[in-house]
Amino acid sequence: MSNVLVIESSARQQGSVSRQLTEQFIARWQAAHPADQIQVRDLAVDQVPHLDANLLGGWMTPADQHSLAEQAALALSNTLTDEVLAADVLVLAAPMYNFAIPSTLKAWLDHVLRAGVTFKYSETGPQGLLTGKRAFVLTARGGIYAGGNMDHQEPYLRQVLAFIGIHDVSFIHAEGLNLGADFMEKGLAEAKAQLAELI
Ligand SMILES: Cc1cc2nc3c(=O)[nH]c(=O)nc-3n(C[C@H](O)[C@H](O)[C@H](O)COP(=O)(O)O)c2cc1C
Repeated sequence: MSNVLVIESSARQQGSVSRQLTEQFIARWQAAHPADQIQVRDLAVDQVPHLDANLLGGWMTPADQHSLAEQAALALSNTLTDEVLAADVLVLAAPMYNFAIPSTLKAWLDHVLRAGVTFKYSETGPQGLLTGKRAFVLTARGGIYAGGNMDHQEPYLRQVLAFIGIHDVSFIHAEGLNLGADFMEKGLAEAKAQLAELI
């Protein structure tokens, strides 16, 4: 049995294409792996706070010296990090907002890229500690960017996932969604076909 952690980040609940992709992912994954546990964290519903002085203080001082404010800041951050540690499969759903990922997803990443927990500094440089995990990234974009230099989603997410040790990453992009009905239909159909082939 594996644990699958799905992170939703579309600000919309209705009409969201990235949510359609996660819905299909979950249905297919459950059919193929009925014993697996699937957990969904919706960053639009439960937004995570930006990093602040209390959280950084909590990370950087020993537990027995934490102030009450640092303890409180650490509690949610630890939960988010524990969820990633427990996951065998990570699914990130990311609409493209202003050429990049939603700020809610960036805030979540700021919590889970944690020195000493998900990566560590070694004599040979930073080393990812989340080995043996697989990730899927499902994006939704109004325009068409895959492989171009205006795509600040895929290169960034590949880098941060590799930084914490996750190298087995599959990207599925639904593109051209705001370019008219034909493009939208084609972009969505292609992404769904890729998902069906992968899982
Ligand atoms: C605030 C905002 C910014 C956006 N920025 C871009 C962008 O830079 N490039 C793009 O191709 N589409 C952009 N879009 C369009 C979305 O990527 C597209 O509507 C996508 O389907 C959103 O994902 P969702 O359907 O899961 O909500 C933007 C949409 C919003 C609401």
